[in-house]
Amino acid sequence: MSKLWGGRFTKKTDQLVEEYTASIMFDKELAEEDVQGSLAHVTMLGKQGILPADDVEKIKDGLHRVLQRIKRDDIEFTIGDEDIHMNIEKTLIDDVGTVGGKLHTGRSRNDQVATDMHLWLRKRVVEFVDMLYKLQSALVEQAKANIDTIVPGYTHLQRAQPILFAHHLMAYVSMFGRDIERLQDSYKRINVLPLGAGALAGTTFPIDRHFVAKELKFDRVYENSLDAVSDRDFILEFLSHASIIMMHLSRLSEELILWSSTEFRFVELDDAFCTGSSIMPQKKNPDVPELVRGKTGRVYGNLVGLLTVLKSLPLAYNKDMQEDKEGMFDTVKTLQGALQLFAPMIATMKVNKEQMRQAVNKDFSNATDIADFLVGKGLPFRQAHEVIGKTVLYCIEQNKFLLDLTMEEFKQFSSLFDDRIYAVLQPEQVVNARNVYGGTAKEQVEGAIARADAALAETSAWVVEYMGRSR
Ligand code: ARG
Repeated sequence: MSKLWGGRFTKKTDQLVEEYTASIMFDKELAEEDVQGSLAHVTMLGKQGILPADDVEKIKDGLHRVLQRIKRDDIEFTIGDEDIHMNIEKTLIDDVGTVGGKLHTGRSRNDQVATDMHLWLRKRVVEFVDMLYKLQSALVEQAKANIDTIVPGYTHLQRAQPILFAHHLMAYVSMFGRDIERLQDSYKRINVLPLGAGALAGTTFPIDRHFVAKELKFDRVYENSLDAVSDRDFILEFLSHASIIMMHLSRLSEELILWSSTEFRFVELDDAFCTGSSIMPQKKNPDVPELVRGKTGRVYGNLVGLLTVLKSLPLAYNKDMQEDKEGMFDTVKTLQGALQLFAPMIATMKVNKEQMRQAVNKDFSNATDIADFLVGKGLPFRQAHEVIGKTVLYCIEQNKFLLDLTMEEFKQFSSLFDDRIYAVLQPEQVVNARNVYGGTAKEQVEGAIARADAALAETSAWVVEYMGRSR
């Protein structure tokens, strides 16, 4: 059979043009959604009396057979049929005969492709919330296991103040929590039906868009037919959320890589998540976090790529928009790969509590606390800061830490010091003194973990509900 749009043409399409303009190589990913959309569309055509009931039945039976064949990977898609929409229509017509040609009544590939992508992406969004939920769960479990583990906290990658390792991990739980919220919020903009917009202006047939929306479990229909076929905001929004998730994963990756180094030795990643060197027998390389950090680049690239494709497009559909797919598929695959590995990698990570403790004992991260001690004695903070700065300088020259100083030594810097300073300087005391909401004191971190557990339960319920809504 010739091309579905061949009537107006007298010459064959150039072979290179055929290859250049086809999208079947990648948009076959949308095959199931394409059939799903067609089933709802043809059901509506029947209900509205646009097609006779027995035609509708034949087409629906044919579409169900096509769907089974897609699931068995039993259809040979061809470049000659350009894209997934025409490949499926052709397959249907081969199966049911010319009646299959009635399916496309009142519809265009422009509203069809947009519908397919909305259907496809809303499933992925729910799956990503589920994956982030699993990662958060692994982080919360590690936090619980490290509720007494003290580690240096850093600013400028210089030791700043000691914190609970649990507190550090819970910071990532908060970040991934915002990522989850963003995805959940985007669902309401993804879950809108474009179908019925036709090529750009609507259709002359008395269709019922709201019925189709209901069939496909969409909450709303696009208000404007031009917007319906031109909008790719929902993809951009996803690519942007995915970029932020990758950025969070990349920061955590960077920390895991640092912490696994001999210089830190704070954590050890499980053998199952590392690889060796072909020449240096001693090496155990953190390839997974390194690759996640590296692949963040292509995810950003996909976002900027699509923003650039769209920036000067006049309304409505332009073939440029076919370029919306590969980046989206690549981002989904890249993010799936990263999240799939991250949860078990965090869950199996060994935390070297002793090494963290050693690090805290050998630094000046308790310096703020003696400054605060002097403030408690009435010294203005700026003066206290100056006094402790000098004390630290003295320690460095003497190769000592603050807890090593005798009372006489302390008194050289301020007469306000007394014996209670030794208790104030203990790392546990330093940590627990920061007992403000959101701070690192054990009591606060326990509260944060309890709230995270409650949020996890909510997310899990959301996933169950929305998995059902998006299939
Ligand atoms: N393969 C096309 C795409 O992905 C489908 C829409 C084609 N529409 C058209 N008017 N040529 O954008």
